[in-house]
Amino acid sequence: MNNNGTGRAALADSAAADLDPARLRDVFGTFATGVVAVTAFDDGRPTGLAANSFTSVSLDPPLVSFCAALTSSTWPRIRGARRLAVNVLAANQREVCERFAAKGGDKAAGLDWFSSPGGAPLVAGSLTWLECSVEHEYPAGDHLVVIARVRQAGGPFAGSPLLFFRSQYGRWAPAPG
Ligand SMILES: Cc1cc2nc3c(=O)[nH]c(=O)nc-3n(C[C@H](O)[C@H](O)[C@H](O)COP(=O)(O)O)c2cc1C
Repeated sequence: MNNNGTGRAALADSAAADLDPARLRDVFGTFATGVVAVTAFDDGRPTGLAANSFTSVSLDPPLVSFCAALTSSTWPRIRGARRLAVNVLAANQREVCERFAAKGGDKAAGLDWFSSPGGAPLVAGSLTWLECSVEHEYPAGDHLVVIARVRQAGGPFAGSPLLFFRSQYGRWAPAPG
């Protein structure tokens, strides 16, 4: 499918607008992603943040990345832990995502979790979990790009992913054709 004709005119119009943060958020939001919960123990209690900036980086050595906002109050707590976990959220874990996206409060209250072998909190029902240590943190604008080394992994388990697209949650379906 191409996007010529009216699509080209729309493209020219939209390119004239400035890159203000609200528009950029909408533009970035056209890239559909999964969602992870990045978790760690903070004083023995699970905490974490929801992130859709997660991506796999390297198989050898095993590295992943995600971006942490400079405004995050939870990231400094996670960074201080020896191990963190990346929990890939399933389609039925929207509530889990929302609790980790909330600011403040006890994010683990009522959460079904268990500990990874190396000591990071794992969210029950996730599609996979990765137990990681922080390898690098690179400042990048209003975020930090975190490179984490995968120490252990669990899964993949059955289920379909929680997806995020244009600020809305959805679920995966095979493309037609
Ligand atoms: C779908 C979704 C994706 C998000 N992705 C990120 C992300 O990649 N990086 C980030 O720092 N915050 C992300 N957030 C925001 C954090 O999950 C969360 O709101 C914030 O960390 C909570 O504030 P706190 O860190 O001060 O506790 C995302 C939120 C949602 C709902």
